[in-house]
Amino acid sequence: MKNGKYAVGVVGAGGIGQYHIEGWKKIPDVVIYGIADSSKETLDKVKLKYDISFATTDYKKLIGIEEIDIIDICTPNAFHYPVAIAALKNKKHVICEKPLATNSAHIEKMIQAARENKRKLMAAQNQRFTAAGQATKKIIDNGLLGEIYFAQCYAVRRRELPPRETFIRHALSGGGPMFDIGVHILDIGYWFMGCPKVHSVKGVTFNKLAGREDITGSWGEWDRNKFDVEDFAAGFVLFKDGRALQLTCSFLSNLPSNWSSNLYGTKAGMIWPEMKMFSEISGLHNDSILSPIVPDDEPSHHKELKHFLDCVRDNRDVLVKPEESLEVIKILEGMYISAEKKKEVIY
Ligand SMILES: NC(=O)c1ccc[n+]([C@@H]2O[C@H](COP(=O)([O-])OP(=O)(O)OC[C@H]3O[C@@H](n4cnc5c(N)ncnc54)[C@H](O)[C@@H]3O)[C@@H](O)[C@H]2O)c1
Repeated sequence: MKNGKYAVGVVGAGGIGQYHIEGWKKIPDVVIYGIADSSKETLDKVKLKYDISFATTDYKKLIGIEEIDIIDICTPNAFHYPVAIAALKNKKHVICEKPLATNSAHIEKMIQAARENKRKLMAAQNQRFTAAGQATKKIIDNGLLGEIYFAQCYAVRRRELPPRETFIRHALSGGGPMFDIGVHILDIGYWFMGCPKVHSVKGVTFNKLAGREDITGSWGEWDRNKFDVEDFAAGFVLFKDGRALQLTCSFLSNLPSNWSSNLYGTKAGMIWPEMKMFSEISGLHNDSILSPIVPDDEPSHHKELKHFLDCVRDNRDVLVKPEESLEVIKILEGMYISAEKKKEVIY
């Protein structure tokens, strides 16, 4: 704590790190103690922009500060694990950008470190905090869809490939669109279904467009020689209770972009995040579009930070339980293994 406020240290002050800084700054009982970033140039810029007094290129120096309560990890995926372990061992609560880590073995160790040090750990799966995400979950919990027996989850981008090395090199990202955006859409679909235990997965990955010089990306050029992740992935998850989920993800595709989760329920179906609901009433189709009575414009990324602080302050369970993130990453890992071995992976 610093001057009676919760002290936060942000590791990784790039795009999402700065968005988090803006979110933390809105919370009255939080102070941003400092930032760490391996780029001196970024540090200097962000320090000045947000009036932050402590800045270091060595994240261990930030994590070592006793007054800091919360470490917020916004580095590229491959660094989530070492930073989180160091922070938890230094008795910090950890909120970490998605994916929580690039493999399930690392997440298991992170969960263990959180337990041993009695600290909170949560992946920043902001989709769960969107107004549509929260409303859909409430509708499901109120039983309005009945049993959701199947979900189709799409994180399909037509020509939106993040060109930075940290997204296109496996060693830094852990995977292509499946790890970058598939993790979002799988997490929310899986949460809508009540986080069932996984029985088996089957997946395919392709790299048909990203290596081609005649393909254009709306976010700029990428280095074709360094691109070693998939540009498209699809898979099928069978849960132990017999229900199932289908996942489709791409950075590049010759079909329109699609960001949605179609929920097949026994009482009604629903398309998220459009909030369209479909059912039958007295032999008639019943199609409705749900909209909030009181609009909620607060960014989901900022809501997740507030939620995390509430959990720390009141010693409550976090909404995105690390065990759920572990299951999500196990599914994605299984899809890669299945794609490579051309067979189903059974858990
Ligand atoms: N939830 C979301 O909507 C969302 C959106 C974008 C990115 N992300 C996630 O946020 C993370 C960062 O993505 P980004 O788009 O902000 O990337 P970015 O490249 O803009 O920022 C990453 C920052 O981390 C710094 N960095 C790299 N290695 C470091 C290290 N070892 N120690 C300290 N700093 C280091 C870089 O210098 C850079 O400033 C990724 O895990 C990504 O998946 C989440």
